[in-house]
Amino acid sequence: MENRIHVEVIPQETIEEVRLRTDIVEVISEYVSLQRKGKNYWGLCPFHSEKTPSFTVTPEKQMFYCFGCNVGGNIFSFIMKKENWSFVESVRNLARRYGVSLPEKEQSPREREENRLRRRFEEINEWAASYYHDLLLRLPEGEPGRVYFAKRGVDIDTMKSFRLGYAPERWDGLLSYMQERGVQPHELAEAGLAVEKETLGKDGQHHYDRFRNRVLFSILDQRKHPIAFGGRVLDDSIPKYLNSPENAFFNKRHHLYGMHRAHQGIRELGYALLVEGYLDVIALQNAGFPNAVASLGTALTKEQAKLLRRYTSRVVLLYDSDGAGIQAAFRGGEILRDAGIRVDVLTLTGAKDPDEFLKSYGVEKFNQALSKVLTFVEFKYQTLFREQPPRNIPEKAELVIKLAADILKVSSPVEREGYERFLSLELGLTLEAVQREIASYELKKPNNERVQEYFQQKRVSSLKSRDNITNAILCKDNSVPPLPIVYLGVYRAELLLLRLLLEDISYLPKIKAMLGESFWKVPVHQQIFNYLNQDGVLPAHCDETVQSRLASLFLEELDRSQTERLLDDCIKEILSTQAEERVEDLQARMAALEKIGDMAGAMALLKEIGERLKRGE
Ligand code: GTP
Ligand code: MN
Repeated sequence: MENRIHVEVIPQETIEEVRLRTDIVEVISEYVSLQRKGKNYWGLCPFHSEKTPSFTVTPEKQMFYCFGCNVGGNIFSFIMKKENWSFVESVRNLARRYGVSLPEKEQSPREREENRLRRRFEEINEWAASYYHDLLLRLPEGEPGRVYFAKRGVDIDTMKSFRLGYAPERWDGLLSYMQERGVQPHELAEAGLAVEKETLGKDGQHHYDRFRNRVLFSILDQRKHPIAFGGRVLDDSIPKYLNSPENAFFNKRHHLYGMHRAHQGIRELGYALLVEGYLDVIALQNAGFPNAVASLGTALTKEQAKLLRRYTSRVVLLYDSDGAGIQAAFRGGEILRDAGIRVDVLTLTGAKDPDEFLKSYGVEKFNQALSKVLTFVEFKYQTLFREQPPRNIPEKAELVIKLAADILKVSSPVEREGYERFLSLELGLTLEAVQREIASYELKKPNNERVQEYFQQKRVSSLKSRDNITNAILCKDNSVPPLPIVYLGVYRAELLLLRLLLEDISYLPKIKAMLGESFWKVPVHQQIFNYLNQDGVLPAHCDETVQSRLASLFLEELDRSQTERLLDDCIKEILSTQAEERVEDLQARMAALEKIGDMAGAMALLKEIGERLKRGE
């Protein structure tokens, strides 16, 4: 039968060659941060969510395997799963990356022409970068550039690793250099390096150099090939920066300055530092922050956020603290957040940008500042609060609403609740009131699904357990009055405590000594505990809820190598939540006092709450 579907076939030996040349650790490292332990590498599985690493890569066998979700395979299966590519696409991609040439696929004339143009574009940019770079490093004409960079504290090694350059004060410097290499002026113009004149000059030339008397920052792609340039004036004239225009092969939305080095740095440090200026990137990378990058003179784009997401799930935003910088941080933060990135904001004081800060105060002070980053929500809260401190309850509610979208988008329910608590403490509202306010924001939105999702997650505090019974109890439809909320952490701690007790009843005295006998929040847990406490055994017949809970408990896996630590963690979790709840009672009373206008009383309670929090109660 005729095969209608065109299947592209790559010869077996080519596939084998790609597999041999590929370094599985290197490729997987782009997605997972891996740590070496003996022969293998370990990391958090990218195919299911987990807190402790059960994902391994074995370079010897060029295989990966996850003990948590039992997914495994070779580098092709990894890429296919992770990028959602076909087998052929995966092979092609790795082949390109590791320089294995595939048998030429039949190309359309258009494809052939496009490939030719791309190669030409790369070649022209390569030559241009060399031209500017050599001028800066050694030619007499490059003196102004050398003076400028010396003044900014940029040394030779840095000039080399960032391929910095200088464009001389001439109209045809690059044009004539390129002409010697057979590059036509119109090609230079297409690459954005020359500009076409509107009227023909006396010299008979149709074009002139775009960059003149500027220091140049090469924009390098991940393979360290120059694809564009940013040129800065040497003095205070404007425009301060001139960038290569976009074209078919360069789209500034897709690139970040400094990425040619930072992709490794980001992986190693586990987060990216996003700054505003090219020189900030250079100064930071030199100061031991190889994870610094900047967008190319525009606001951060979705594409750039996606690029960052390939390497990390955390970004520290470091923008100027002026009005424009704050606005940029707000917008950038939202874009990153929507890309699934956790955003923290670092504010530096006493300098206009990171470059200046490092020069004036040094790395140590920078590290100190870095240890005090604010989460995006905190940063936004503080900024909004400073701009317009709320004077009464409705204004507080308004402020909560302004942060609602940011809090609702936080995927971790525990983290989300942390923000809600933060707001309740900061504003002297009850946690419940804050949560209601945020939920009401959600209700006003048209999409009903989201509402449902939020309430469900709220109600169960996102119980992600395999325990359907509990989910059913806690998620019951709205006709049932809502159950008291059991915080996820406590719920888990209770489960684990029971699991431990079932494993070894000798933990009982310690639990009783630390927590008493009636601390259980989930009724069925209390019931099981009571049985165990009475005579250490379970009755042969008990009610169905207890039965099924027990069944699910026995199914819970237990890491037997660290039961003592687990026990302590659970006790700690329960104790700290109990303390928080006492604070919450105070908050509720405080809110009540506020409502009846007893501000003095409310202030007194606020002070008490503060003291307790300080004592870590
Ligand atoms: P210095 O003043 O040398 O420290 O430069 P900077 O890079 O820190 O500049 P600044 O903080 O003023 O601007 C941050 C970034 O915005 C720059 O790196 C550029 O990418 C971009 N930018 C600034 N001025 C201009 C301009 O006039 N035109 C364009 N296209 N981009 C600019
Ligand atoms: Mn600067």
